[in-house]
Amino acid sequence: MDAKFKSLDDIHVSGKRVILRADLNLPVANGKITDHTRLERLLPTLRELTEKNARVIVLSHFGRPKGRDMKQSLAPIAAALEQALGIDIKFVSDCIGADALAAAQTLQDGKILVCENLRFHEAEEKNDPDFAAQLAQLGEIYINDAFSVSHRAHASVYGLAQKLPRAAGRMMEAELRALASALEHPRPPVMAIAGGSKVSTKLELLNNIIPRVQKLVLGGAMANTFLFAQGKNVAASMHEKDMVETVREIMITAGKHGCEIILPTDAQLADAVKSNANIRTAQIADIQPNEMILDFGPESLARVEKILGECQTLLWNGPLGVFEVPPFDKGTVEIAKFAAAQTQAGKLTSIAGGGDTAAAMNHADVMDQFTYISTAGGAFLEWLEGKTLPGVAALAG
Ligand code: 3PG
Repeated sequence: MDAKFKSLDDIHVSGKRVILRADLNLPVANGKITDHTRLERLLPTLRELTEKNARVIVLSHFGRPKGRDMKQSLAPIAAALEQALGIDIKFVSDCIGADALAAAQTLQDGKILVCENLRFHEAEEKNDPDFAAQLAQLGEIYINDAFSVSHRAHASVYGLAQKLPRAAGRMMEAELRALASALEHPRPPVMAIAGGSKVSTKLELLNNIIPRVQKLVLGGAMANTFLFAQGKNVAASMHEKDMVETVREIMITAGKHGCEIILPTDAQLADAVKSNANIRTAQIADIQPNEMILDFGPESLARVEKILGECQTLLWNGPLGVFEVPPFDKGTVEIAKFAAAQTQAGKLTSIAGGGDTAAAMNHADVMDQFTYISTAGGAFLEWLEGKTLPGVAALAG
């Protein structure tokens, strides 16, 4: 662990009220949790704290409620947590005030209390100092195990951290270590795969990673804009005409840094983003006016695999094709499986992250076979952009 941060190894928690800032913002559809990854990853920290007889007070946000909206209550998630842990969890219907304080103060050693959604109070997102002070009354120690919300300078992430002795939880620790192994001290050569629909939303990311990686594979509609800027016909494919100059500058910068940009040469072409569209595999040069590039073709995939086979580190953000609509998931799945095999063979350090990316890796069934897959969305992106995350900065010292 980075010497700047304390971990659970450095603090005594037995008999202490420990505030654990978690990210229980799980994906829920029709009242059902659709992905338990974040919850499962929190379990080691919770188990360790309860086994060490800490009194654990869990704080989290859920969704983006405007005021107290019971549709965004944390109660069902607390129930899922209780089930996953197999121990009783108390729940209190507010995160500040007399009830919350009483529940925290009467909590026994080795027990867990989950407080209601922090964002029921608008003071949370405003990093209101009074609100942070009220939260601080709940505990004696602060642990942040929520990298995925650490890009938010909110009261429970930033202000609160400054009021109590603080440390990183096990999940935060793993995340920071993984991220450092990909960008701060990676084993070269390093490949980055960056997908996404718009160059304009990934500009900062590209500018930050280009000087640090030797191979940059571009996917998604972003690749189409690069192809277009090189004078290639992309027909009906999504692309940003007004980014041509910017893309040319990026290509010049990449050249200066010895970063090779890898674009597809063949593709899955289709006349609609539908599984039953007219789909064919062809060279991009053969694209017809009504066709769109929706995934990498076999020649391009073989090239990416060959180059990745020579790399020691992979950093991946954004799918290669429209992975939500088969068969346009094929390229992403194939490269994910190849990277997983390389990782398992000890030849590659593989780090992936970002909202879509974790979902794509889950779809490819490689969640346990990469070195690390971050479930963070915005926080992972901001880190890739080279920004200091307030929640991480607040843990230091
Ligand atoms: C996330 O899901 O990315 C985090 O929980 C942060 O949520 P937010 O974007 O609503 O702040």
